[in-house]
Amino acid sequence: MNDSKSQPLLLGEAIRQQFPFFGDNPALPSDRRRIVPAYLDSAATSQKPRCVIERMTRFLSYENANIHRGAYQLSGVATENFEDARARIADFIGASSPNCIVFTRGTTDSINLVARALEPELSEGDAIVLTLLEHHSNIVPWQLLAQRKRLKLYFADISDQGVLNLDDLAQKIAATKPKIVSVTHVSNALGTLVPIKAVCALAHSVGATTVVDAAQSVSHMALDVDDIDCDFLAFSGHKLYGPTGVGVLYGKEQRLAALEPVYGGGGMISSVSTEKTTWADAPQRFEAGTPPIAEVLGLAAAVEFVRQLGMAQIEDYEEKLLYAAMERLAREKAITLYGPALHGGEQKGIISFTIDGVHPHDFSTIADTFNVQLRAGHHCAMPLLKRLGLQSTARISFGLYSIMDDVEALCEAVHFAQKKFS
Ligand code: ALA
Repeated sequence: MNDSKSQPLLLGEAIRQQFPFFGDNPALPSDRRRIVPAYLDSAATSQKPRCVIERMTRFLSYENANIHRGAYQLSGVATENFEDARARIADFIGASSPNCIVFTRGTTDSINLVARALEPELSEGDAIVLTLLEHHSNIVPWQLLAQRKRLKLYFADISDQGVLNLDDLAQKIAATKPKIVSVTHVSNALGTLVPIKAVCALAHSVGATTVVDAAQSVSHMALDVDDIDCDFLAFSGHKLYGPTGVGVLYGKEQRLAALEPVYGGGGMISSVSTEKTTWADAPQRFEAGTPPIAEVLGLAAAVEFVRQLGMAQIEDYEEKLLYAAMERLAREKAITLYGPALHGGEQKGIISFTIDGVHPHDFSTIADTFNVQLRAGHHCAMPLLKRLGLQSTARISFGLYSIMDDVEALCEAVHFAQKKFS
């Protein structure tokens, strides 16, 4: 970890010059090119800094070659850069070795991969414990696994404020002795920060394997997998200012080494004959076929970008912004806010709310006419919304380039929507 806390504040407005998205947009008609969007959907995907775009463009323009396959220099350099990216990403999350990093297509792919890879360790009747905070991508892969192997799934409850009920989790873990406990670090619908280290300790006390969905935490706070002590952890590149199409499955080195591959093909073998195939070591064993090379290099550039800014500084900036935004939204009589921060709990980067008399989908469409982008609906977290007695919310989410002006633009859209629907 290499956080620099002493740098001047370069976030919010100041960092926008490094994001083409916030500059002149040649895709728009000339009279609209300078209208700066109030982009409040970074939990869905983040905007990309120039260094990421340029790194990918450089590879695709001048360095393009396949990796681990060619005996020529261009391929050798591509391989070195790819493996250097793996090492940087390992270091970024505190992993003990680059061998702990499997490149995938994203969080969903990572969780599906680990669910498939753990399958041989499970027998009929075994339990898996999840929570009601989970995104569908940390529910459905386990449901599919449960169907295949006749397993039992249990969901730890949450409070009415959207805080994980640790007592209920402990009780379910003690009662069912699960083989796997898979939990989100930050809820994508409410922003709830889960005490993930305590969750992993509880799970390990009964010998369960722990899987952490870090899709919504990795861009907001420094992660240290060693400190969390999880067995596996998943995140996507595109929420961390990197490109789509690349993600990470972190696994403890011995755990990965002991698992069988899930996908078969080129690059993941040691030797192949018509009778018998042997596997390459992890992580290559899990990376069949040509990987997303440009995307991995883009993700490594994104990691360097946030490291130079300092994850501690990003966390601090976004926390102040989140509380200021909640205060501002709380002044709007028609708005009901959800999430733990209102009640003294911890919340990261995301605010969910409803507006009296205005459906979240209608509001999102209206907000778009104010050039405010946000997500509305169940946020791929239907069990969570059901538990809170909701069908849908409007959700805003921040990145390191977000500013209070975005929230003011949102409030203008709220006033307009209220008038339209009153
Ligand atoms: N999982 C992403 C979100 O919450 C797409 O919006």
